Amino acid sequence: MGEKARVAVVGAGLMGHGIAQVLAVAGHAVRVHDPAPAMLATLGDRIRRNLTDLGQDPQAADRVSAEPTLAAAVADAALVIEAGPENLALKRALFAEIEAAAPATAILASNTSVIPITQIMAGLDEPRRALGTHWWNPPYLVPLVEVIKTASTAAAAVEWTVALLTAAGKTAVVVAKDVPGFVGNRLQHALWREAIALVANGVCDARTVDTVVKAVFGRRLAVLGPLENADLVGTDLTLAIHETVLADLDRTPGPSPYLRALVAAGKLGMKTGEGFRRWSPEDQAALRRRVTEHLESLLAEGL
Ligand SMILES: NC(=O)c1ccc[n+]([C@@H]2O[C@H](COP(=O)([O-])OP(=O)(O)OC[C@H]3O[C@@H](n4cnc5c(N)ncnc54)[C@H](O)[C@@H]3O)[C@@H](O)[C@H]2O)c1
Repeated sequence: MGEKARVAVVGAGLMGHGIAQVLAVAGHAVRVHDPAPAMLATLGDRIRRNLTDLGQDPQAADRVSAEPTLAAAVADAALVIEAGPENLALKRALFAEIEAAAPATAILASNTSVIPITQIMAGLDEPRRALGTHWWNPPYLVPLVEVIKTASTAAAAVEWTVALLTAAGKTAVVVAKDVPGFVGNRLQHALWREAIALVANGVCDARTVDTVVKAVFGRRLAVLGPLENADLVGTDLTLAIHETVLADLDRTPGPSPYLRALVAAGKLGMKTGEGFRRWSPEDQAALRRRVTEHLESLLAEGL
C-alpha cells in the first residue's frame, strides 16, 4: 500500500476512538471529529490508556489528531469512517457534509451496526465510493471488520478497503449484499431470538441459556464455525436435525413481547441492575473483566 493513507473518523465515542487507535497503530495519520468537546478533549488519553493496558506503545496516539470541525477532519482523507450515533437521518446528514468536504476520490464508510448502507448513502452524488465497514467492540480486541458492498459500490473501493484493513491486522470479510444486520448481527440475533423465546416459553431460565451456550458450542465457536460444524457432523445429519427442530424454533417476526415487557418495566440490564437477570456491581465488573481477558488471550494466541 506504499505510503499510509490518511484516514478520518467522524464520531469519537466507544467505536470511533477504538477504530482511530487501530489505524494509528498501523501507521496511519488519523483525524477525528466529534461535535462534543469532551469527546475530543479526552480522545488522546483514552487511546493512550488502552494502549498502555494492552502493553503497546502509547506513542501511536500521537498520530491521532482531534479536529473541532468535520471539514478539517476529512479535507485530505483517503478514507472517511463514520462512527456517529445509530440514527439514519443523522447519518444521512453527516454523509452529505462529508461528501461536500472530502476529496472526490475518498472512500466513504459507515460503521453502522445494522442500518443498510444503501439507505445511509442514498443522497450521495457518487455512491460508487460508499460502503460499510462494520467493526466490533472493542475494535482493538475483536479482529473482524465486515466490509459491506451496496449495489452501487465499485469493486475497486471494496478491494482497496479490504487491503487497508488487512494491512492494519484486521480480519476483513466482504459482505456482497447490503442486508440489514449484515452477516454477524444476523447470526447473533437469530440466536438471541431463540434464547429469549426459550425463557419466555418457560423451557429454562436465562442463566441456563447462557450456561448452555458457554459450556457447549460457545467453547468451539472460536475455532469451528457453524458450517464447518455441519460438514464435520455431516450434511445428512444436519438435514435430519433440521427436519425435526426447525419448525419448532421461534419465528416471531418482530421483537419478543417478553423483551418489550422488560424494557417497559425499566429492566434495561446492567445499567439498571436488572434485565434478564439481576446484576450487582461486583458481578458486572467480574463479567466485563472476564470478557476482556478472554478476548486478550484469544488475540495473544493469534485467533
Ligand atoms: N457499541 C458497539 O458495540 C458498536 C459495535 C459496532 C458498531 N457500532 C456502531 O458504531 C456507531 C457508533 O457507536 P458507539 O457505540 O461508538 O456510540 P457512542 O455513543 O459511544 O459514540 C457516538 C459518538 O458520536 C458523536 N456524535 C453525535 N453527533 C454527532 C455528529 N453529528 N457528528 C459526529 N459525531 C457525532 C457523539 O458525541 C459520540 O461521541 C453506531 O452507528 C453504532 O451502531 C457500535
